[in-house]
Amino acid sequence: METDGKEEISVEDEAVDKDIFKDCSNIAFYRRQKQQLSKKSTYQALLDSVTVGKDSTNFQIINEATKVPLLTEVYSIEGNIFRFKINEESPLKPRYEVPDVLTSKPNTVRLISCSRDIGSLELTNGKGDLKCHITANPFKVDLVSEEEVVMSINSLGQLYFEHLQIPLKERATKENEEDASVDTSQQNQEDMGLWEEKFGKYVDVKVNGPASIGLDFSLNGFEYLYGLPQHAESHQLKNTGDGEAYRLYNLDVYGYKINDKMGIYGSVPYLLAHKLGRTLGIFWLNSSETLVEINTEPAVKYTLTQMGTVAAKQKVTSRTNVHWMSESGIIDVFLLTGPTPSDVFKQYSSLTGTQAMPPLFSLGYHQCRWNYEDEHDVKAVDAGFDKHDIPYDVIWLDIEHTEGKRYFTWDKKRFPNPKRMQELLQNKKRKLVVISDPHIKIDPDYSVYAKAKEQGFFVKNHEGGDFEGVCWPGLSSYLDFTNPKVREWYSGLFAFSVYEGSTDILYIWNDMNEPSVFRGPELTMHKNAIHHGNWEHRELHNIYGFYQQMATAEGLIQRSKGKERPFVLTRSFFAGSQKYGAVWTGDNIAEWSYLKISIPMLLTLSITGISFCGADVGGFIGNPEAELLVRWYQAGAYQPFFRSHATMNTKRREPWLFGEENTRLIRQAIRERYALLPYWYSLFYRAHVTSEPIMRPLWVEFPDELQTFGVEDEYMLGSALLVHPVTEPKATVVDVFLPGSNES
Ligand code: NOJ
Repeated sequence: METDGKEEISVEDEAVDKDIFKDCSNIAFYRRQKQQLSKKSTYQALLDSVTVGKDSTNFQIINEATKVPLLTEVYSIEGNIFRFKINEESPLKPRYEVPDVLTSKPNTVRLISCSRDIGSLELTNGKGDLKCHITANPFKVDLVSEEEVVMSINSLGQLYFEHLQIPLKERATKENEEDASVDTSQQNQEDMGLWEEKFGKYVDVKVNGPASIGLDFSLNGFEYLYGLPQHAESHQLKNTGDGEAYRLYNLDVYGYKINDKMGIYGSVPYLLAHKLGRTLGIFWLNSSETLVEINTEPAVKYTLTQMGTVAAKQKVTSRTNVHWMSESGIIDVFLLTGPTPSDVFKQYSSLTGTQAMPPLFSLGYHQCRWNYEDEHDVKAVDAGFDKHDIPYDVIWLDIEHTEGKRYFTWDKKRFPNPKRMQELLQNKKRKLVVISDPHIKIDPDYSVYAKAKEQGFFVKNHEGGDFEGVCWPGLSSYLDFTNPKVREWYSGLFAFSVYEGSTDILYIWNDMNEPSVFRGPELTMHKNAIHHGNWEHRELHNIYGFYQQMATAEGLIQRSKGKERPFVLTRSFFAGSQKYGAVWTGDNIAEWSYLKISIPMLLTLSITGISFCGADVGGFIGNPEAELLVRWYQAGAYQPFFRSHATMNTKRREPWLFGEENTRLIRQAIRERYALLPYWYSLFYRAHVTSEPIMRPLWVEFPDELQTFGVEDEYMLGSALLVHPVTEPKATVVDVFLPGSNES
């Protein structure tokens, strides 16, 4: 390793230091929303302003205090989806709207106003029984099905919208004459982090000032919520306590703590709620830092709701409130109305796409380590599998295979002849995966750097120069994958003629793409770095990794002239990443608790569209004892992405190094995987064409069985196999819950 990044690299030597990362109390927009909401200012819908268009029905809402008008657009989308967009009617400058996640412009169905009273408005799409009942003052939306309010929006009055303001400096000269609602006192500016926010030694200067948004959703009768990856948490979302929220902010958290709501590598701002008779989903399309509070209220027996002409008597057993808060952007939320789990899966994939159909080999077993040292090592490990009669398909090379962490190159001493090495693998129908990270070593003699620099393809700092940060190679710049031109160019780097030493058995692993910046705040990029289109990094942080995987997958498709399916593994992801390949759960630890949590973590990814997911078998950090390693293989064989991986400084752990009996057990587990390969392939096909998740929580397969709703130590693989991995040491028996027992 080079000295440049050394100080930071040592961060990766022990499990997570939580002080590096923020909790809610360190997040200014959280503090602001909490403070403001305690003052109970309300919004009112101006129903005089309603316009009914072909695509959407629009009206203004206005905040009592600020009087700044917001425009609400209500869309009804084919397949029983409602979309609400709320934005400033005339912002000082455009606010960020997440591009490239929706696969196409959703097909809308015209909304009809079916009843209009003073003070309320009711909209229907004329299909099915769903209605949107809008109350003017205070502004509230009820989603009504068969006279029952399934969900209410803003019933707790948590709609929050910070409108863009004239920058502080300019305003100071105008002596605040215009906007009396904004407290510009120095103390308040600092406490509330309006134009500047401090965290440790980092200062985030915000040219656009405060721009955060928030909204609440009340789900009547729902107690079971799932989704919102990625957290090392239970499958069922928990109530968030005071000062706590599920954080969606992509971060490189080495040895992340489990049973914790801190943000880790990826974010899908989407949750599902399930109760007997109905499943629904809320997809919050926003790529800035996002916090979600969940709060289940105890049962209320009868509620009488007066809604203009509609009087709905509802039996509410309980209700769960979901409060979304994002640092910037607009409110753009999709309500997926089910009613069944599989309807919700289809509704979500109609927006963001289905799981990419993977190449068959990638469903086999993958052997990885940081690092397989050299060509000789690769050959020896490869031969080891034959010698011990263990099937495997793919061997992986981590960052050390490159010339000084310059991706797309090979270390000449370790890998003098990469084509020869790939030929050897190819003769056995095996594949190679190599790593390609988004940071590019600053070195004018490195052609990838020089070409990107020349074309202005790096993310910029707020002063207009290239953003520079430290990562594995030392000082690096970061490709701006949000720019379509950069993606096109990057895709081209995978062409066989451009990527020296690559062959058609070489596939790609995108890592560190949160992005990880060793000397950055929370080990990531400064929020005021600048991307294509002059957008600040804060607007799109959570989607950066998504774009790298998109460009990589496209590169692999192009190099085969569209004939072959790509395989790309990514660490960071966003809603829709399923279209581009596989995801894994990052730097886990070789402990039983991490084996156990891998199940709910993967179930959560699976139901939020990302079926091709896995956890490092054996645990990345530390040395698993033989029993744990064996159990991990036995579990991993029944998880979609099946790869063993280990960090530097761990003992070698190829499957045959733990004595004959353990080798036999691991061999058996891997062979079970291969025996089921046709089943796996069919499940991926079903996921690809009909949006069915592959790893299914029991509640998905048995939605009418209450006892299944909280189960997360076992799951269904497709609809035919029940899997209950052993995740405890010294276990000789496990208790397996058998769902569906009442059915014939
Ligand atoms: C971090 C990744 O999570 C890990 O899997 C990888 O081995 C190291 N980076 C080195 O590339």
